[in-house]
Amino acid sequence: MAEAVTGGSGLRFEMDGEIATVTLNRPEKRNAQTFATWSALARIGEDLPEQVRVVVVRGEGPSFSSGLDLGMFAPEPEPPAQHPEPAQHRGTERVPGTDSFAAAAARGDAELRRLIAEAQRGFLWLRRPDIVSIAAVQGHAIGAGFQLALACDLRIVADDVMFCMKEPALGLVPDLTGTKPLVDIVGVPRAIEICLTARVVGAAEALRLGLAELAVPPDELGRAVRDLTAALLAVDREAATATKRLLQGAPQRTLEEQAAAERAEQAARIRSLFAGS
Ligand code: ACO
Repeated sequence: MAEAVTGGSGLRFEMDGEIATVTLNRPEKRNAQTFATWSALARIGEDLPEQVRVVVVRGEGPSFSSGLDLGMFAPEPEPPAQHPEPAQHRGTERVPGTDSFAAAAARGDAELRRLIAEAQRGFLWLRRPDIVSIAAVQGHAIGAGFQLALACDLRIVADDVMFCMKEPALGLVPDLTGTKPLVDIVGVPRAIEICLTARVVGAAEALRLGLAELAVPPDELGRAVRDLTAALLAVDREAATATKRLLQGAPQRTLEEQAAAERAEQAARIRSLFAGS
């Protein structure tokens, strides 16, 4: 198994054949996330080896992720001359202008949006049709942690899971690509209720709402993910990619359009499998 620690981001990346595992690896801070985490996530997506078919996203320790690093709410850091290592005390590499919301707010509107887009890039690749992403979620999945789980195709949770969309309670909106999958899964009214109350959604409710595919005791989480991964890898790769593409497009299409998309994908499959045989 090849392993890489993406320096300072709080992430660990491992490869095992067709399986890639991304681990949030700051358990002492309950895997709080920073801009460095999201930049590193984006880089992992960009550089993902072609052989990868399943990406597992997991968190080290008792919590999947406590969300955004609360250090972001601190006043603007002093200039480097007075504080030569402004971010290192939090164990994160420095991404200029991202240490605090105060520093980010000092940027122009366009620049601020570009910064958020850069963070979102870390989440968006997890929906690529050529991979299946699985979030293995135990304990707290708060804010950015909930959104990272929502960015994945599938969620396997431990019985102790606590999803919470805390952003509105902190004066923010969920902006790490989580609102669309949340609404797609639970519908607008339930999404409003969950986000605007910032309440906890536990395992039983997550299963009922479709926010989790499976809930297991915490010590069985790893095995449940391995079993699911093995089942996913047993299916033909090209067929899996084409089917995921079809399913992802279905909500935006009419029945007739979806039928046409099925014809196009199947014709390509049949040609690929049987032409010249
Ligand atoms: N950012 C920075 N540090 C954090 C964070 C965080 N989001 N969450 C936990 N920590 C740190 C704590 O300060 C503590 O550090 P210390 O040991 O140096 O004092 C350590 O992680 C352990 O935290 P505890 O609170 O002791 O752990 P516990 O398991 O009791 O509670 C919980 C975990 C519920 C996650 C709690 O830490 C918490 O509520 N954290 C804040 C959650 C939050 O508001 N996140 C922002 C969401 S909004 C968004 O993501 C956009």
